[in-house]
Amino acid sequence: MADRRPDDMIRITTKELADAFIEEQIKELRDQIGDKKVLLALSGGVDSSVVAAMLIKAVGDQLTCVHVNHGLLRKGEPEQVIEVFRNQMKANLIYVDATDRFLDKLAGVTDPEKKRKIIGGEFIEVFAEEARKLDNIEFLAQGTIWPDILESEKGIKAHHNAGGLPEDMKFELVEPVKILFKDEVRVVGEALGLPSNMVYRQPFPGPGLGVRCPGAITRDRLEAVRESDAILREEFAKNGLEGKVWQYFTVVPDFKSTGIRNGERTFDWCVIIRAVNTTDAMTAEVENIPFDLMQHLVSRITSEVNGVNRVLYDFTPKPSGTIEYE
Ligand code: XMP
Repeated sequence: MADRRPDDMIRITTKELADAFIEEQIKELRDQIGDKKVLLALSGGVDSSVVAAMLIKAVGDQLTCVHVNHGLLRKGEPEQVIEVFRNQMKANLIYVDATDRFLDKLAGVTDPEKKRKIIGGEFIEVFAEEARKLDNIEFLAQGTIWPDILESEKGIKAHHNAGGLPEDMKFELVEPVKILFKDEVRVVGEALGLPSNMVYRQPFPGPGLGVRCPGAITRDRLEAVRESDAILREEFAKNGLEGKVWQYFTVVPDFKSTGIRNGERTFDWCVIIRAVNTTDAMTAEVENIPFDLMQHLVSRITSEVNGVNRVLYDFTPKPSGTIEYE
C-alpha cells in the first residue's frame, strides 16, 4: 500500500468510500501476506480493532490476536473483545489475564512516570512471551494511523515501530490504516461491522485506569475507579451525553475523609468526576453537566461504590490541569 497519504485522497466519510478502501486494502493485504501468519496486539481500542477486523476479512485464521488484560481496563472491556472477536468474528484470539502480574509489579509504586514505564514495559514482555510460543509468524500488524506518522516526523511523539519488541523478534510490519485519519478509521470500522460503542469509544490512555488511581495502585481503590467509571458512562449514555462530551471518567485519589452512612461515621475515599471537551487534546474545556444529573451521579456513586463517601467535580480546564491526573 501507499507509504504516504496521497495529497489528493478524498476523506473517507461514507460507507461507500469505506467499502472501496476496504476492498482495495484486502487485495493488498492478501498480496503482502500470502499464506504466511500475522500477529496483532489487540487492545480493544479503535485502531487495533479495525486492523483486526480488516485482517480477519483478508486472511482469516492466518491472523492471531493477543489481548493482554493488564488489569487496568474499564469494566466490560476484556469481555467485549472476547465476545466480538472470538465469538462473533471467529478470530484466533489469545486472551492473557495478566492482572496479578501487573498489579504485583505496581504495588507500592507512587511515581507517575515509573508507573507508566512499568505498565509499558510489562505489556511488551507479556506480548513477546506469547509471540515466542507461536510458530512461523512473519508479520506484525499495527494500528498506526496517519497522525502518528506525522507526529513522529515532527518529533512530537515517538512512533514505536513493532511496539518496542525485543531485538531478536523481527517481523515485517502490516499497517493497513496508516494513511487514515482517526475519523476515517471509525467510518471504516463501522463498514466492517464493528459495534458502534467500540468504533466511537472515547480516548483511553495506554496505562489505562492506572493513571486514574493516583499514587500507589491498590486493588480496592482500582475497583472504586472501575465501578464509578461504569456508572458515569452508563448515566452519560442514558442522558444523551455519550458522543457529545469528548472524554469523561473518574479518578479516585489516595486520601480519605470523614462522612456518615446509616448514622455511622465513615472514613472513605472520594470520587472525582472529569468531563472535558476538546478538538486536539492540547487544550480542553470543562463540560457543563446539568446539576440534577450531577446530584444523581453523587447519589449512585456514594451508594453503589464500596469505600466511597464523597463525589467532587473537577472544574479545571487544560491548562492549568492536564486531562488525566498522571
Ligand atoms: P493529557 O492528560 O496529557 O491527555 O491532557 C491528553 C489526551 O491523551 C490521553 N492520554 C494518553 N493516551 N497513552 C495514550 O494512548 C497515554 O499514555 C496517554 N496519556 C494521556 C488522555 O486520555 C487524553 O485524551
